Amino acid sequence: MSVDPVRIGVVGLNYWGPNLARNVDRLPGAELAYCCDLDDKIRARMSAQFPDATVTADLDQVLADPTVEAVIVATSVPTHYALGKRVLQAGKHAFIEKPMALRAADAGDLVRVAEVHGRQLMVGHLLEYHPAVRKVKELLDAGELGRIFYVYSNRLNLGKVRPDENALWSLGPHDISVINFLTGEEPEEVSARGECYLQPGVEDVVFGYIRYPSGMIGHLHVSWLDPHKTRTITVVGSDKMAVFDDMDADRKVTVYDKAAVVPDYQSYGEYVTLRFGDIHIPRIANDEPLRLEVEHFVECVRDNRRPLSDGRDGLNVVRVLEAMELSLRDAGRPVKTADLAVG
Ligand SMILES: NC(=O)c1ccc[n+]([C@@H]2O[C@H](COP(=O)([O-])OP(=O)(O)OC[C@H]3O[C@@H](n4cnc5c(N)ncnc54)[C@H](O)[C@@H]3O)[C@@H](O)[C@H]2O)c1
Repeated sequence: MSVDPVRIGVVGLNYWGPNLARNVDRLPGAELAYCCDLDDKIRARMSAQFPDATVTADLDQVLADPTVEAVIVATSVPTHYALGKRVLQAGKHAFIEKPMALRAADAGDLVRVAEVHGRQLMVGHLLEYHPAVRKVKELLDAGELGRIFYVYSNRLNLGKVRPDENALWSLGPHDISVINFLTGEEPEEVSARGECYLQPGVEDVVFGYIRYPSGMIGHLHVSWLDPHKTRTITVVGSDKMAVFDDMDADRKVTVYDKAAVVPDYQSYGEYVTLRFGDIHIPRIANDEPLRLEVEHFVECVRDNRRPLSDGRDGLNVVRVLEAMELSLRDAGRPVKTADLAVG
């Protein structure tokens, strides 16, 4: 039995959108039906690159087409909420790039609107589809690392300095989504400190702390003012430790059989023994995370199935971002995510 391809529109095709459009176009189960952007030059470029797609400046034209099942929103972040809501209200499944919105209230509203209209809402938390991150999650779920004590990430570079958003909003969403994904819990309380060296009011470096209900801790260090190009996430478990290093071509994940062992009957530090065991490098599939992400979205639309990085996941990342932003503005004061308004 042949199944019709899922017809998809992509809105926002400047820097990131074309990567999404290219993956939709190449996927056998999908058809790139529309490319939509306000910019004339971008539309001309898209017409040449995707001659079979309809190219338009008008999102309403995409939304009015009953054969379009889903729309990918890859516009600038401040527009995500309004455009995503229009897509869902038009009865289309929505994929919204990260971060899903600028405020938890707006992200919560998108989750609600998707539910009301019975449509799937997915967020572009790309690293959750990275085979190396999936491997670390698999090890955690199988109990290989024991109980998670803490997870920390470093996303550092001498990189693109943005005038309109700080290093937290620019670099943090992926790390927060992975830390939430690995811990499997919803964040409870956060705090953050950061410093502005290059532009007043725009943090170049941010250190953020996330506490989960079970006591697990997440920490992120993001900076575009750093000599090292670093993209690592480290999980410290009670039995083993694992590191995901996205800069290492053939050693993306390393598992250390290292732990500090406390005998059950003792609670004093001097009786803790340290274990220095083998180092294991699991084989990681070389699949492109973006292709896996787009493939997953298409499958979820086709089967009307909840995506891995669903609206709730998007909301939890925006909650951390907004709460960290409040903490940054208040000398690192701890902020409970439950205290944020959610639409
Ligand atoms: N997953 C990743 O690794 C990754 C990487 C880069 C960017 N992103 C995300 O992708 C999104 C887009 O990033 P970018 O750097 O390409 O943004 P950008 O601001 O450079 O481009 C946005 C485009 O959207 C268009 N647009 C805005 N409003 C529109 C509307 N109403 N109708 C039609 N077109 C409209 C603009 O004309 C522009 O061409 C952001 O959310 C960003 O965070 C994700």
